Amino acid sequence: MTQENSAGSVTPASREYPAEVATASGSEWWRSAVIYQIYPRSFADDSGDGIGDLPGITRRLPALAQLGVDAIWLSPFYTSPQRDAGYDVADYCDVDPLFGTLEDFAALENEAHSLGLKVIIDIVPNHSSSDHVWFQEALASPAGSAERCRYIFRDGTGASGELPPNNWESVFGGPAWTRTTDSDGTPGQWYLHIFDSTQPDLDWQNPWVREQFKDILRFWLDRGVDGFRVDVAHGMIKAEGLPDYTPPADSGSMGGGTVGLEPEIGDHTDGPTPPYWAQEGVHEIYRDWRKVLDGYEGDRVMVAEAWVEPLTKLANWVRPDEMHQAFNFSYLETSWAGPAVRRVIDTSLDAFTGVGAPSTWVLSNHDVVRHASRLALTAENPQGHGVGPASPGQPNPQLGLRRARAATALMLALPGSAYLYQGEELGLPEVIDLPDESREDPTWFRTNGERYGRDGCRVPIPWESDAASYGFSASGASWLPQPSDWAPLARDAQVGVSGSTLELYRSALAIRADHNLGLGDVQWLPGYGDSVVAFRNGDVTVIANTGDVAVELPVGDVLLTSAEIHEAALAPDCTVWLRTS
Ligand code: NOJ
Repeated sequence: MTQENSAGSVTPASREYPAEVATASGSEWWRSAVIYQIYPRSFADDSGDGIGDLPGITRRLPALAQLGVDAIWLSPFYTSPQRDAGYDVADYCDVDPLFGTLEDFAALENEAHSLGLKVIIDIVPNHSSSDHVWFQEALASPAGSAERCRYIFRDGTGASGELPPNNWESVFGGPAWTRTTDSDGTPGQWYLHIFDSTQPDLDWQNPWVREQFKDILRFWLDRGVDGFRVDVAHGMIKAEGLPDYTPPADSGSMGGGTVGLEPEIGDHTDGPTPPYWAQEGVHEIYRDWRKVLDGYEGDRVMVAEAWVEPLTKLANWVRPDEMHQAFNFSYLETSWAGPAVRRVIDTSLDAFTGVGAPSTWVLSNHDVVRHASRLALTAENPQGHGVGPASPGQPNPQLGLRRARAATALMLALPGSAYLYQGEELGLPEVIDLPDESREDPTWFRTNGERYGRDGCRVPIPWESDAASYGFSASGASWLPQPSDWAPLARDAQVGVSGSTLELYRSALAIRADHNLGLGDVQWLPGYGDSVVAFRNGDVTVIANTGDVAVELPVGDVLLTSAEIHEAALAPDCTVWLRTS
């Protein structure tokens, strides 16, 4: 739909959407929704134990309604030993006492719905916790038993089974297999865990597993949830025979690539598909799940957490009878550079529109370096590795925040659905100098501190500038230490303050809604240099300057600007929305 000239710049072209996409409004709320990710342990703590909880979330929900988002997505709050911050589920149908009770969840959901917010919850089907009764029963049962067949147990290789069944590595570092001990104390079979050893992979070839999860979906749908974010939605089926595989050096933690710098991810794939990611068999599972969701009233949705490239392949997750949305990690991984940004927008819109799905857009989540730091990194940083005191390419905080504001203003002008991660509306940076002893990410432990992991983006968020733990917890406790200089970033220090990051987000969301940008389109504008991203969406002209020289602005009313504008010139790392005639 667009053409590139030899210099790599994009010439303008109008984009056409299938009629059913362009006209969807009211129903199918998810097509244009802005969805706010709540990471429960770091959002708000009512119990005073330093870990956020459901009542804390409920109490703070009005702030999100005021912000102007359409829905919340809650990361896991289920019963869990918390070896991977709740992505290790020991009971899919209950709330961990750390976070509250099922009644607390019902109260949260009621409050959200009464504020007009939809509620999406996380479902973790690739693996359970090793504490789950299914796995405990499997361990206690003999090789080949029905209980063992719930998971991926195999005999070892080597003379006496002392070597793992294949060479797969855990996403968090170290081997992806752990050997069990039989009841008589002798070494037994091995089980697969693509993540931590406390997260055994379920065997999705087993119909019993499939039935369990459909029941789990129904359990929560019956309780009124509006949808599911599906964890590792590209990993549930493994290639027949579990063949050996060695990933390329820069393939990143979740299967993603290198974030923050020039390499453009999302438009190419190198090498064979890993035998544990993006296998064709996963699609049958989602078709089955879609039928379950479609049996319920209202628009219940599924969004795939699938680190799959290229985007044309990821689009298979959102074909009309599969999921509704998939996270656009190619967008997240795009560098702050005009040609790369234009290309990923075009590729995304083409790929998703091609299957009748909305594109999604995301810049931050609980697994990646916050974009207020990431966009100013000056060295490669594979996804999931995190940034710590000894990391190369330390970001300049002022530049990072300036770029983050510009990048967000650009993202929120795009048609489709956008995901925000708690705290980005406050301009929070990655916390780089966490003390080693406070770190909890299994990545840190499984790599012996070689990778800092994801704790730096999970620090509890600041609500009140002059309260202990910045109002996160009534007791002043915080499971990860908060930086001492966060008072100006606290919500109460930004509310109503013109030019604050919070007010920038609030205005952007209000204008996005007023001008129906989520259901609009992208028409590239001619006449700008390579480092400028300029397009019209409906009656709004959006211009983002990723370069290092100011750009002259056209005549028009300024609706939104990510930084101050002087003399009709758009400074570097700034995005403006104009109403032009
Ligand atoms: C993706 C989740 O976002 C991440 O936090 C988790 O560690 C892995 N999946 C394993 O569940």
